[in-house]
Amino acid sequence: MKNIIGRGAEAVLYKEDSKVLKDRVSKDYRQKDLDTSLRKARTRREAKVLSKLKEIGVPGPELLDMDDKDMRITMSFIDGDKLRDVLCKNPVELSKEIGRKIAKLHANGIVHADLTTSNMILDKEIHFIDFGLSFFSTKEEDKAVDLHLLDRALESKHHEIYKECIQAVLKGYKENYPDAEKVLSRLEKVQKRGRNKKKA
Ligand SMILES: Nc1ncnc2c1ncn2[C@@H]1O[C@H](COP(=O)(O)OP(=O)(O)O)[C@@H](O)[C@H]1O
Ligand SMILES: [Mg+2]
Repeated sequence: MKNIIGRGAEAVLYKEDSKVLKDRVSKDYRQKDLDTSLRKARTRREAKVLSKLKEIGVPGPELLDMDDKDMRITMSFIDGDKLRDVLCKNPVELSKEIGRKIAKLHANGIVHADLTTSNMILDKEIHFIDFGLSFFSTKEEDKAVDLHLLDRALESKHHEIYKECIQAVLKGYKENYPDAEKVLSRLEKVQKRGRNKKKA
């Protein structure tokens, strides 16, 4: 049986037995060649990063297949709760775990680029999903922006617990990443830039 489990801006997701199929659908508003190359690039990128996760010890779906003609990724199903729905049950510990796991991604040169609590699933531990925008980078700026986006997502979706969460995320991040200080000082600049833009 094939059930739809998600329909985002870019993809339709089906569950089939213990597998998830992620089909990147075409978008009418994009010029056709551009649409094809974007979908192809994101499908490949997601597959490439998923295949790295196990090696670096970050929990996520296991890549089972990638087809860049059908624009489909097949991966294992993670049976758990969307972190967005359960973060408030244990905000500090869960946020610290998020921080430790982002640290591991960054230490291995992976920037997720869409860190929100909708892209995390809590099974026995937190799994990251949705690597379609992710990329490899060693730049502090890219890592700082990754954290900044999570900061924004936490403030907007978890307003009441935002402060304790972001503090714990950064604590976990520092604990697990020798280069954290450099990224965090960059993060301050990124956030200052954001505030100035708001004022202008
Ligand atoms: N491997 C997976 N296991 C379980 N659920 C998944 C998995 N991948 C995606 N999902 C579910 O489908 C939703 C959309 O998938 P996602 O990869 O985030 O695509 P989108 O780009 O549309 O946000 C997720 O929020 C999650 O609920
Ligand atoms: Mg998503």
